[in-house]
Amino acid sequence: MTIMYELNNISYRYPTSDSPVLQDISVKLEKGKLYGVIGNNGSGKTTLCHLLRGFVPHFYKGEVNGQILLEGASMLEMELGDLAPKVGYMFQNPFIQVSGVKETVFEEIAFGLENLGISEEKIVPSVNHVLKQVKIDHLRDKNPFELSGGQRQRVALASIIVMDPDILIMDEPTSQLDPQGTEDIFEIITMLKEIGKTIILVEHKMDFILECADHILVMKDGKVVMEGETEAVFSNPEYLSLNIAVPSVADVYFDLQKRGVALTRFPRTKQALLAELVEMTRKDGMG
Ligand SMILES: Nc1ncnc2c1ncn2[C@@H]1O[C@H](COP(=O)(O)OP(=O)(O)O)[C@@H](O)[C@H]1O
Ligand SMILES: [Mg+2]
Repeated sequence: MTIMYELNNISYRYPTSDSPVLQDISVKLEKGKLYGVIGNNGSGKTTLCHLLRGFVPHFYKGEVNGQILLEGASMLEMELGDLAPKVGYMFQNPFIQVSGVKETVFEEIAFGLENLGISEEKIVPSVNHVLKQVKIDHLRDKNPFELSGGQRQRVALASIIVMDPDILIMDEPTSQLDPQGTEDIFEIITMLKEIGKTIILVEHKMDFILECADHILVMKDGKVVMEGETEAVFSNPEYLSLNIAVPSVADVYFDLQKRGVALTRFPRTKQALLAELVEMTRKDGMG
Protein backbone atom coordinates (compact mmCIF):
# COMPACT_ATOMS: atom_id res chain seq x y z
CA MET A 1 0.00 0.00 0.00
CA THR A 2 1.50 3.31 -1.09
CA ILE A 3 0.13 6.57 0.20
CA MET A 4 -0.44 9.24 -2.46
CA TYR A 5 -1.90 12.04 -0.32
CA GLU A 6 -1.76 12.53 3.38
CA LEU A 7 -3.82 15.30 4.97
CA ASN A 8 -3.29 16.06 8.64
CA ASN A 9 -5.74 18.39 10.38
CA ILE A 10 -6.30 20.51 7.30
CA SER A 11 -8.44 23.62 7.65
CA TYR A 12 -8.90 26.32 5.07
CA ARG A 13 -10.85 29.48 4.43
CA TYR A 14 -11.03 31.51 1.23
CA PRO A 15 -9.85 35.12 1.65
CA THR A 16 -13.48 36.28 1.50
CA SER A 17 -15.18 33.60 3.59
CA ASP A 18 -15.87 34.29 7.25
CA SER A 19 -15.85 30.69 8.43
CA PRO A 20 -13.54 27.82 7.47
CA VAL A 21 -14.67 25.97 4.34
CA LEU A 22 -12.55 22.92 5.14
CA GLN A 23 -12.38 21.93 8.78
CA ASP A 24 -9.87 19.67 10.43
CA ILE A 25 -9.65 17.08 7.66
CA SER A 26 -7.31 14.14 8.19
CA VAL A 27 -7.28 11.44 5.54
CA LYS A 28 -4.81 9.27 3.68
CA LEU A 29 -5.45 8.51 0.02
CA GLU A 30 -3.80 5.41 -1.38
CA LYS A 31 -2.19 5.15 -4.77
CA GLY A 32 -4.25 3.37 -7.42
CA LYS A 33 -7.58 3.67 -5.66
CA LEU A 34 -10.76 5.36 -6.74
CA TYR A 35 -12.14 7.72 -4.13
CA GLY A 36 -15.74 8.84 -4.36
CA VAL A 37 -16.29 12.22 -2.73
CA ILE A 38 -19.93 12.83 -1.90
CA GLY A 39 -21.94 15.36 0.06
CA ASN A 40 -24.57 18.02 -0.39
CA ASN A 41 -24.02 21.33 -2.19
CA GLY A 42 -21.72 23.66 -0.32
CA SER A 43 -20.18 20.89 1.78
CA GLY A 44 -16.68 21.62 0.46
CA LYS A 45 -16.15 18.95 -2.21
CA THR A 46 -14.86 21.34 -4.87
CA THR A 47 -12.65 23.11 -2.34
CA LEU A 48 -11.14 19.76 -1.34
CA CYS A 49 -10.43 19.08 -5.03
CA HIS A 50 -8.79 22.51 -5.33
CA LEU A 51 -6.59 21.64 -2.38
CA LEU A 52 -5.53 18.30 -3.87
CA ARG A 53 -4.62 20.04 -7.12
CA GLY A 54 -2.78 22.85 -5.35
CA PHE A 55 -5.18 25.61 -6.49
CA VAL A 56 -5.84 26.04 -2.78
CA PRO A 57 -3.96 27.93 -1.52
CA HIS A 58 -1.61 28.70 -4.45
CA PHE A 59 -4.22 30.25 -6.72
CA TYR A 60 -7.14 31.04 -4.40
CA LYS A 61 -4.87 32.33 -1.62
CA GLY A 62 -6.36 32.33 1.88
CA GLU A 63 -4.80 30.39 4.69
CA VAL A 64 -4.30 26.66 5.03
CA ASN A 65 -3.69 25.22 8.47
CA GLY A 66 -2.40 21.71 8.89
CA GLN A 67 -0.29 19.56 6.65
CA ILE A 68 -0.84 18.16 3.16
CA LEU A 69 1.69 15.76 1.71
CA LEU A 70 1.84 14.45 -1.84
CA GLU A 71 4.05 11.37 -1.98
CA GLY A 72 5.58 12.50 1.28
CA ALA A 73 6.43 16.08 0.23
CA SER A 74 4.59 19.15 1.48
CA MET A 75 2.28 20.49 -1.22
CA LEU A 76 2.32 23.92 0.35
CA GLU A 77 5.90 24.25 -0.81
CA MET A 78 5.36 23.04 -4.36
CA GLU A 79 4.88 25.13 -7.50
CA LEU A 80 1.48 24.94 -9.22
CA GLY A 81 3.12 24.39 -12.59
CA ASP A 82 5.13 21.41 -11.34
CA LEU A 83 1.91 19.71 -10.30
CA ALA A 84 0.28 20.01 -13.73
CA PRO A 85 1.78 16.89 -15.35
CA LYS A 86 1.18 14.86 -12.19
CA VAL A 87 -2.41 15.83 -11.35
CA GLY A 88 -5.10 16.06 -14.03
CA TYR A 89 -8.07 18.21 -13.09
CA MET A 90 -11.50 18.23 -14.58
CA PHE A 91 -13.44 21.28 -13.45
CA GLN A 92 -17.00 21.15 -12.23
CA ASN A 93 -17.94 23.71 -14.86
CA PRO A 94 -16.78 22.52 -18.30
CA PHE A 95 -17.14 26.07 -19.65
CA ILE A 96 -14.07 27.28 -17.79
CA GLN A 97 -11.92 24.37 -18.93
CA VAL A 98 -11.55 25.51 -22.53
CA SER A 99 -8.22 27.25 -23.14
CA GLY A 100 -9.72 29.89 -25.44
CA VAL A 101 -6.62 29.94 -27.61
CA LYS A 102 -7.30 26.91 -29.84
CA GLU A 103 -9.71 26.71 -32.74
CA THR A 104 -10.42 23.00 -32.92
CA VAL A 105 -11.10 20.21 -30.46
CA PHE A 106 -8.04 18.39 -31.78
CA GLU A 107 -5.77 21.37 -31.02
CA GLU A 108 -7.47 21.89 -27.68
CA ILE A 109 -6.65 18.35 -26.58
CA ALA A 110 -3.09 18.66 -27.95
CA PHE A 111 -2.53 21.94 -26.07
CA GLY A 112 -1.32 20.46 -22.77
CA LEU A 113 1.18 18.17 -24.50
CA GLU A 114 2.42 21.09 -26.61
CA ASN A 115 3.02 23.06 -23.42
CA LEU A 116 5.21 20.24 -22.15
CA GLY A 117 7.29 20.60 -25.31
CA ILE A 118 6.38 17.19 -26.73
CA SER A 119 7.02 16.75 -30.45
CA GLU A 120 4.19 16.86 -32.96
CA GLU A 121 4.89 13.36 -34.21
CA LYS A 122 4.20 12.02 -30.72
CA ILE A 123 1.25 14.30 -30.06
CA VAL A 124 -0.81 13.37 -33.15
CA PRO A 125 -1.22 9.63 -32.41
CA SER A 126 -1.88 10.31 -28.71
CA VAL A 127 -4.64 12.77 -29.50
CA ASN A 128 -6.13 10.46 -32.13
CA HIS A 129 -6.19 7.64 -29.63
CA VAL A 130 -7.90 9.64 -26.90
CA LEU A 131 -10.47 11.07 -29.35
CA LYS A 132 -11.60 7.51 -30.03
CA GLN A 133 -11.41 6.47 -26.40
CA VAL A 134 -13.73 9.27 -25.31
CA LYS A 135 -15.92 8.86 -28.42
CA ILE A 136 -15.49 12.40 -29.73
CA ASP A 137 -13.64 11.66 -32.96
CA HIS A 138 -16.50 13.29 -34.88
CA LEU A 139 -15.87 16.57 -33.02
CA ARG A 140 -12.18 16.85 -33.87
CA ASP A 141 -12.51 19.85 -36.20
CA LYS A 142 -15.18 21.69 -34.22
CA ASN A 143 -14.51 24.92 -32.40
CA PRO A 144 -14.46 24.20 -28.64
CA PHE A 145 -16.79 27.13 -28.04
CA GLU A 146 -19.47 25.62 -30.29
CA LEU A 147 -19.88 22.50 -28.19
CA SER A 148 -22.73 21.52 -25.90
CA GLY A 149 -22.10 21.09 -22.17
CA GLY A 150 -21.86 17.32 -22.49
CA GLN A 151 -19.44 17.58 -25.42
CA ARG A 152 -17.27 20.01 -23.46
CA GLN A 153 -17.19 17.58 -20.57
CA ARG A 154 -15.87 14.89 -22.86
CA VAL A 155 -13.28 17.23 -24.37
CA ALA A 156 -12.19 18.23 -20.85
CA LEU A 157 -11.81 14.57 -19.92
CA ALA A 158 -9.87 13.85 -23.12
CA SER A 159 -7.59 16.82 -22.39
CA ILE A 160 -6.55 15.34 -19.08
CA ILE A 161 -6.35 11.68 -20.15
CA VAL A 162 -4.00 12.59 -22.98
CA MET A 163 -1.53 13.99 -20.43
CA ASP A 164 -1.38 10.60 -18.69
CA PRO A 165 -1.21 12.02 -15.13
CA ASP A 166 -0.82 9.65 -12.15
CA ILE A 167 -3.71 11.34 -10.39
CA LEU A 168 -7.04 12.39 -11.86
CA ILE A 169 -9.39 14.70 -10.02
CA MET A 170 -12.84 14.90 -11.55
CA ASP A 171 -15.41 17.26 -10.15
CA GLU A 172 -18.86 16.11 -11.25
CA PRO A 173 -17.70 14.93 -14.68
CA THR A 174 -21.14 13.71 -15.75
CA SER A 175 -23.31 16.61 -14.60
CA GLN A 176 -24.06 17.73 -18.17
CA LEU A 177 -24.50 14.24 -19.58
CA ASP A 178 -27.51 12.05 -20.34
CA PRO A 179 -27.65 8.45 -19.06
CA GLN A 180 -25.77 7.05 -22.07
CA GLY A 181 -23.11 9.76 -21.84
CA THR A 182 -22.77 9.08 -18.13
CA GLU A 183 -22.37 5.36 -18.78
CA ASP A 184 -19.62 6.13 -21.33
CA ILE A 185 -17.71 8.30 -18.87
CA PHE A 186 -17.95 5.68 -16.15
CA GLU A 187 -16.57 3.09 -18.54
CA ILE A 188 -13.58 5.36 -19.10
CA ILE A 189 -13.15 6.02 -15.39
CA THR A 190 -13.20 2.26 -14.73
CA MET A 191 -10.56 1.77 -17.43
CA LEU A 192 -8.40 4.50 -15.84
CA LYS A 193 -8.68 2.76 -12.49
CA GLU A 194 -7.71 -0.55 -14.07
CA ILE A 195 -4.50 0.95 -15.45
CA GLY A 196 -3.55 2.07 -11.94
CA LYS A 197 -4.50 5.74 -11.80
CA THR A 198 -5.36 7.33 -8.49
CA ILE A 199 -8.78 8.91 -8.97
CA ILE A 200 -10.70 11.42 -6.91
CA LEU A 201 -14.23 11.60 -8.19
CA VAL A 202 -16.91 14.01 -6.98
CA GLU A 203 -20.23 12.65 -8.11
CA HIS A 204 -23.92 12.88 -7.26
CA LYS A 205 -24.92 9.79 -9.21
CA MET A 206 -24.77 7.41 -6.28
CA ASP A 207 -25.50 4.23 -8.23
CA PHE A 208 -22.30 4.75 -10.22
CA ILE A 209 -20.30 5.66 -7.14
CA LEU A 210 -21.43 2.50 -5.36
CA GLU A 211 -20.53 0.44 -8.38
CA CYS A 212 -17.07 1.80 -9.12
CA ALA A 213 -15.50 3.52 -6.08
CA ASP A 214 -13.12 1.69 -3.76
CA HIS A 215 -13.47 4.16 -0.97
CA ILE A 216 -15.86 6.96 0.00
CA LEU A 217 -15.34 10.31 1.66
CA VAL A 218 -18.58 11.85 2.87
CA MET A 219 -18.42 15.61 3.34
CA LYS A 220 -20.68 17.83 5.38
CA ASP A 221 -20.08 21.46 6.39
CA GLY A 222 -16.44 21.32 5.39
CA LYS A 223 -15.71 18.15 7.33
CA VAL A 224 -15.17 14.58 6.29
CA VAL A 225 -17.92 13.11 8.47
CA MET A 226 -17.69 9.54 7.28
CA GLU A 227 -15.03 7.62 5.46
CA GLY A 228 -14.38 4.03 4.55
CA GLU A 229 -14.67 1.27 1.99
CA THR A 230 -17.60 1.84 -0.34
CA GLU A 231 -19.73 -1.07 0.83
CA ALA A 232 -19.11 -0.28 4.48
CA VAL A 233 -20.19 3.34 4.07
CA PHE A 234 -23.36 2.72 2.07
CA SER A 235 -24.47 -0.24 4.20
CA ASN A 236 -23.97 1.75 7.41
CA PRO A 237 -27.34 2.89 8.83
CA GLU A 238 -25.59 6.06 10.06
CA TYR A 239 -25.24 7.11 6.43
CA LEU A 240 -29.02 7.41 6.20
CA SER A 241 -29.04 10.02 8.96
CA LEU A 242 -26.75 12.33 6.95
CA ASN A 243 -29.52 13.20 4.48
CA ILE A 244 -27.43 12.58 1.42
CA ALA A 245 -28.76 10.70 -1.62
CA VAL A 246 -28.79 6.92 -1.20
CA PRO A 247 -27.88 4.56 -4.06
CA SER A 248 -31.02 2.85 -5.38
CA VAL A 249 -29.89 -0.67 -4.51
CA ALA A 250 -29.02 0.48 -0.98
CA ASP A 251 -32.52 1.92 -0.75
CA VAL A 252 -33.99 -1.47 -1.61
CA TYR A 253 -31.57 -3.19 0.78
CA PHE A 254 -32.69 -1.06 3.73
CA ASP A 255 -36.34 -1.33 2.70
CA LEU A 256 -36.10 -5.13 2.69
CA GLN A 257 -34.35 -5.04 6.04
CA LYS A 258 -37.24 -3.02 7.49
CA ARG A 259 -39.63 -5.70 6.26
CA GLY A 260 -37.57 -8.36 7.97
CA VAL A 261 -35.76 -9.59 4.86
CA ALA A 262 -32.01 -9.61 5.48
CA LEU A 263 -29.86 -10.08 2.39
CA THR A 264 -26.68 -12.06 3.02
CA ARG A 265 -24.57 -9.55 1.07
CA PHE A 266 -24.82 -5.85 0.43
CA PRO A 267 -25.34 -5.58 -3.35
CA ARG A 268 -23.38 -3.02 -5.35
CA THR A 269 -25.35 -3.28 -8.56
CA LYS A 270 -28.93 -3.97 -9.62
CA GLN A 271 -27.76 -7.28 -11.08
CA ALA A 272 -26.21 -8.32 -7.77
CA LEU A 273 -29.39 -7.34 -5.94
CA LEU A 274 -31.50 -9.41 -8.33
CA ALA A 275 -29.18 -12.38 -7.99
CA GLU A 276 -29.48 -12.19 -4.19
CA LEU A 277 -33.27 -12.10 -4.38
CA VAL A 278 -33.47 -14.98 -6.86
CA GLU A 279 -31.17 -17.03 -4.64
CA MET A 280 -33.34 -16.33 -1.57
CA THR A 281 -36.55 -17.21 -3.38
CA ARG A 282 -35.02 -20.47 -4.53
CA LYS A 283 -33.95 -21.40 -0.98
CA ASP A 284 -37.41 -20.47 0.33
CA GLY A 285 -39.05 -22.55 -2.34
CA MET A 286 -37.09 -25.64 -1.32
CA GLY A 287 -38.13 -24.90 2.30
N1 LIG B 1 -13.85 31.11 -4.38
C1 LIG B 1 -14.55 31.11 -3.25
N2 LIG B 1 -14.48 32.15 -2.38
C2 LIG B 1 -15.19 32.16 -1.23
N3 LIG B 1 -15.99 31.15 -0.83
C3 LIG B 1 -16.11 30.08 -1.65
C4 LIG B 1 -15.40 30.01 -2.90
N4 LIG B 1 -15.72 28.82 -3.49
C5 LIG B 1 -16.58 28.21 -2.66
N5 LIG B 1 -16.81 28.96 -1.55
C6 LIG B 1 -17.67 28.58 -0.41
O1 LIG B 1 -17.13 27.41 0.19
C7 LIG B 1 -18.15 26.52 0.59
C8 LIG B 1 -17.91 25.15 -0.05
O2 LIG B 1 -18.06 25.27 -1.45
P1 LIG B 1 -17.66 24.14 -2.47
O3 LIG B 1 -16.30 23.65 -2.13
O4 LIG B 1 -17.88 24.69 -3.83
O5 LIG B 1 -18.73 23.01 -2.10
P2 LIG B 1 -19.35 21.83 -3.01
O6 LIG B 1 -18.44 21.57 -4.14
O7 LIG B 1 -19.49 20.68 -2.06
O8 LIG B 1 -20.70 22.32 -3.45
C9 LIG B 1 -19.46 27.16 0.20
O9 LIG B 1 -19.99 27.79 1.33
C10 LIG B 1 -19.06 28.17 -0.85
O10 LIG B 1 -19.92 29.27 -0.84
MG1 LIG C 1 -18.72 21.55 -6.16
